[in-house]
Amino acid sequence: MIDDRGSDSASSLPTGARMWPSKRYAEIHQRSLQDPERFWAEEARKLDWYKTWDRVLDWDPPYARWFVGGRINACYQCVDRHVQTWRKSKVAIYWEGETGETRVLSYSTLFREVNRFASILQKLGIKKGDRVAIYLSMVPELPIFMLACARIGAVHTVIFSGFSAHAIADRVNDIQARVLITADGAYRRGKILALKEIVDEAVKLSPSVEKIVVVRRTGEKVPMKEGRDFYLSSLLDDADRMVKPEPMESTHPLYILYTSGTTGKPKGVVHGTGGYLVFNHSAYKWVFDIREESVYWCTADVGWVTGHSSIVYAPLSHGAAIVLYDGAPDYPTVERWWDIVEKYGVSIFYTSPTAIRMFMRHGEERLLKHDFSSLELLGSVGEPINPEAWYWYYKNIGKERCPIVDTWWQTETGGTMLSPTPGIESIPLKPGSAAFPLPGVDAAVVDAEGNELLPGQTGLLIIRKPWPGMLLDIYGDPQRYKDSYWSRFPGSYYTGDFAMRDEDGYFWLLGRADEVLKVAGHRIGTAELEDAAVSHPAVAEAAVASKPDEVKGDSIVLFVTLKDDASPSSDLKQEIGKHLRNVIGPIATPDEVHFVDSLPKTRSGKIMRRVLKALALGQSPGDLTTLEDEASVEDAKKGLRNNEEDVRHR
Ligand code: PRX
Repeated sequence: MIDDRGSDSASSLPTGARMWPSKRYAEIHQRSLQDPERFWAEEARKLDWYKTWDRVLDWDPPYARWFVGGRINACYQCVDRHVQTWRKSKVAIYWEGETGETRVLSYSTLFREVNRFASILQKLGIKKGDRVAIYLSMVPELPIFMLACARIGAVHTVIFSGFSAHAIADRVNDIQARVLITADGAYRRGKILALKEIVDEAVKLSPSVEKIVVVRRTGEKVPMKEGRDFYLSSLLDDADRMVKPEPMESTHPLYILYTSGTTGKPKGVVHGTGGYLVFNHSAYKWVFDIREESVYWCTADVGWVTGHSSIVYAPLSHGAAIVLYDGAPDYPTVERWWDIVEKYGVSIFYTSPTAIRMFMRHGEERLLKHDFSSLELLGSVGEPINPEAWYWYYKNIGKERCPIVDTWWQTETGGTMLSPTPGIESIPLKPGSAAFPLPGVDAAVVDAEGNELLPGQTGLLIIRKPWPGMLLDIYGDPQRYKDSYWSRFPGSYYTGDFAMRDEDGYFWLLGRADEVLKVAGHRIGTAELEDAAVSHPAVAEAAVASKPDEVKGDSIVLFVTLKDDASPSSDLKQEIGKHLRNVIGPIATPDEVHFVDSLPKTRSGKIMRRVLKALALGQSPGDLTTLEDEASVEDAKKGLRNNEEDVRHR
């Protein structure tokens, strides 16, 4: 059921449901907050534990530890327990490569592979607690290696295969990984991405890496260093067939995943084992009503948190079949995704607003010949979805049959926090709203002082109670953990997002409140981009502002001052753009580069990005009383004008 009458429709919702349109949801949510420990203990019993917990929660703010004393293994939850049932012969993974190859893995095959991969890791000297870096595209070996790490208690760090050598080295150095897993290459839009060569560059900067495992994907000849580099296929020859899963402490880290924050250095978000699994297992039931017969396709890359929870750990813990597509969405044609939906009978489809907007541009005609009848539920994640995209998705993909779950969450939250929950009960959907907090999630919208706001008022989104999927820490930087999430509103988790709750209790997410951009759903910090820009030899200072982009959400607008010996030119602009690609990866490519004589700064030297953003948007820069040098505003305007001239002359 859709309620498309916006936020002032409270009076027209069913009587008695002003605050919570769904009675069943309201009852569960209320119960979960009244006695969270009892509630989560009931949920946790749905998983298989080697030993049940002594205490459900140790909450020593800002640290929460869940199911303390309990022992559990993530690989066992996702694989072993299915092979003991009829599911052993059902599909676990439908894999499709960009070049048309396919592989179908049953749960038994997955079990076999996970055991052999775990044995390889052991033979390479990996033990419980060791960190393993994985730099692969969306090949089946990626989830298999993640599960193999989990099996033996090693902690994986997956590095998105679009990242550059520098970005890999930063992450590998932070975790001091001794083993790195990669492939000879990957396919992207018909071209080969030379992953192994990028890794060779990265490890020149990462002395901790002793062994590199190379998956054969393209078959291209790649440089292999004797004694350091090994093909997976040759290691498999000696692999053992069975490796016992390690009964892990519930509070032991399962993985570390890097994400952008407000400083230049990415944060290593550490997720635990028991709490993370329980939270995701329950959330995917509530949000997606996932079942063992579901064919679940989350189009994200496993290199992001969405891929960790929504491709690997949650759907596999339910014994569902996942689709893994290793290629570009529009290659060789924009119909590629819809061919895949049809071919594998996808029942739950989960993607980003950016992808939906990209398909909208190509029109509806191409969709008419596709059969979408297998779809039951659609999802959206990563950025706010504009109602126009929501309706397009609902009408053209869901054929007005499938509810859309707009799920709000973050790398740090581990799993979905706000979303409609059709797995509990259908509620009227409001396009553009992520609906309600999940059971166990105590969300509120507050002002700068932490006072809860009235319906309709915009403020900051906080979470007032710990939840089991909550991050354990920032790897190696507990101070940053405290500062980023817990210092602003003591006792509550600060999300960094603007939000509004309407009269009916629905939450509307309104974008980031900090210096973090969302470019095509990917999270990237302005400071990270600026640090990369100033590492170019011609650049003295850099500042990044963002501009709304019709498809990508945010676009990157870079302002730079040049060193005295550098002269401005459009070639140099291109070169700086390329430099950002090289240092971070293609997601960091600026859409605009402007040369300015000085940057607007406060008297204490802080760059006033809001001024640059306003200028980039052609708006008034607003209050300038804290500005150090007013001439910088004129400089920036000049830089923008010159850029327009550049564009005209091109
Ligand atoms: O700003 C919010 C936005 O994405 C941020 C988290 O990014 P990341 O850690 O990369 O995780 C993304 C996928 C889980 C949030 O702080 N965001 C995520 N989902 C939504 C969203 N904004 C609005 N609506 C959403 N459904």
